[in-house]
Amino acid sequence: AYVIAEPCVDVKDKACVDECPVDCIYEGQRTLYINPNECVDCGACEPVCPTEAIFYEDDLPEDWTWYKDAAVSFFAEVGDLGGATAAGSIGHDEPRVAALPADIN
Ligand code: F3S
Ligand code: F3S
Repeated sequence: AYVIAEPCVDVKDKACVDECPVDCIYEGQRTLYINPNECVDCGACEPVCPTEAIFYEDDLPEDWTWYKDAAVSFFAEVGDLGGATAAGSIGHDEPRVAALPADIN
């Protein structure tokens, strides 16, 4: 799956959301999360992010590999919600994302 990493935190441009054919990019409080159970690896989201936050899971920079685990944990907690549009803003974050400093970006 593709993964949203640190440059999205507190930025949340959301250009990616409109590109996703399976509506699997969900909004948390400080970042968005791609549901790895729903992403079909089409890659359409990656080039449109103005902060270059999106990576294929195997191409994540080393410091950001944990964002893959954060996405897995996030959806293990909230479940597969069947579409980001209907789910709306989920209003919280995976604990490691929530703990990032306020001036991270
Ligand atoms: Fe975030 Fe980039 Fe999407 S900043 S919301 S990953 S377009
Ligand atoms: Fe959607 Fe991006 Fe995956 S557009 S299907 S989240 S690669």
